[in-house]
Amino acid sequence: MSSASQSVLFLLLGGMAMFIIMLILLLVFCKIIKPSDLNKLVKRARRPPDLFSGNLRSISLFDFQTLKKATNNFHPGNLLGRGGFGPVYRGKLEDGIMIAVKKLSVNKSQQGESEFLAEVRMITSIQHKNLVHLLGCCSVGPHRLLVYEYMINRSLDLIIYGNNDQFMNWSTRNQIIIGVARGLQYLHEDCPLRIIHRDIKASNILLDDKFQPKIGDFGLARFFPEDEAYLSTAFAGTLGYSAPEYAIRGELSEKADIYSFGVLVLEIISCRKNTDLSLPSEMQYLPEYAWRLYEKSKVLDLVDPQMREDGFLERDVLQAIHVAFMCLQPQPDLRPPMSQIVSMLTCNANMNGTPMRPAFLERRRKRDIENPSCDSISDPFPSPLQSDSSLPKRPPN
Ligand SMILES: Nc1ncnc2c1ncn2[C@@H]1O[C@H](COP(=O)(O)OP(=O)(O)OP(=O)(O)O)[C@@H](O)[C@H]1O
Ligand SMILES: [Mg+2]
Repeated sequence: MSSASQSVLFLLLGGMAMFIIMLILLLVFCKIIKPSDLNKLVKRARRPPDLFSGNLRSISLFDFQTLKKATNNFHPGNLLGRGGFGPVYRGKLEDGIMIAVKKLSVNKSQQGESEFLAEVRMITSIQHKNLVHLLGCCSVGPHRLLVYEYMINRSLDLIIYGNNDQFMNWSTRNQIIIGVARGLQYLHEDCPLRIIHRDIKASNILLDDKFQPKIGDFGLARFFPEDEAYLSTAFAGTLGYSAPEYAIRGELSEKADIYSFGVLVLEIISCRKNTDLSLPSEMQYLPEYAWRLYEKSKVLDLVDPQMREDGFLERDVLQAIHVAFMCLQPQPDLRPPMSQIVSMLTCNANMNGTPMRPAFLERRRKRDIENPSCDSISDPFPSPLQSDSSLPKRPPN
């Protein structure tokens, strides 16, 4: 037999052997897996991935009695604070784990149980090292409770303008600024859902044992979908953080959070509230005061005197103040996105453009803080053509 006909024979025999093996495998496969199961497998492979399926299974439903016991029957001694959504209690579970329990105001949360659970699932699925972790919830009758990880150093407001003697050096403050920026970047740009926090402020920045910041209360507005009043309640306490376009026209975008972040950065550096009517008039509104110092090339006067004594990195503080001014720009589209802010803060990336005079809301009388109205909001969008001399003058001290 010639070598050519030999190789044809080999090929033929090889092909036949392959065919028989395939046939046997197919028969075995059909015996083990039924066609109906095969159909299911194919369908499952075609279904789009469920981003939250892992968390749907792991959501914890707490029993009301467990939370009652953990908080010593919601004892006033365990009350951590009371915000726009209801009171928050410290608690300890039987296994020793510390928790913070937020009792949502019954008259405000109109949601049914299934909607409430759906929102909890959604929030539980959002996890990042700079976001407070929602551990689970409890729903009994009209009561809705949220269970969070307990943050041992509580909230930033208690340190930066509370009456305690805790001092944070520049490195801790810088770590907090960067952590909050990263948490916001995740909410705005990286998490599967686009989340606008709406209420970035010092009391919503919680601190762990190493003073690493975690943003709290993100996604909370979703529990009050019908409640228009929620916004005005929140404004009553946080008008000084609100972007003008949001406060005046209700225009909500990530840029409103970015504005609030700018105010927060100035508060952290200066260790004071954004609005303090007990101060001399030119110092009462922090963004306005900061801008005046900047124009006089004295912006470092803004720095908390205790921090100045302790020492700080001038270049880093100047960069952080610059970032704050960029966040406070009057037009939302002039405010950089959070990813750019994180690079500016961490890699000293170049700033695009020089900041304009920030937009800020002014309240002339103390009464207006309790009842903010459009009358109390003045000069939110100064025209670039408007000179400072045309702006309303304040009486000298
Ligand atoms: N997970 C937590 N761990 C420790 N303390 C917490 C926790 N969550 C909240 N707190 C404390 O409870 C206080 C009240 O919180 P809450 O969120 O109800 O009010 P708020 O932040 O002042 O206002 P808002 O309702 O607008 O968020 C906070 O200032 C903080 O000190
Ligand atoms: Mg809060």
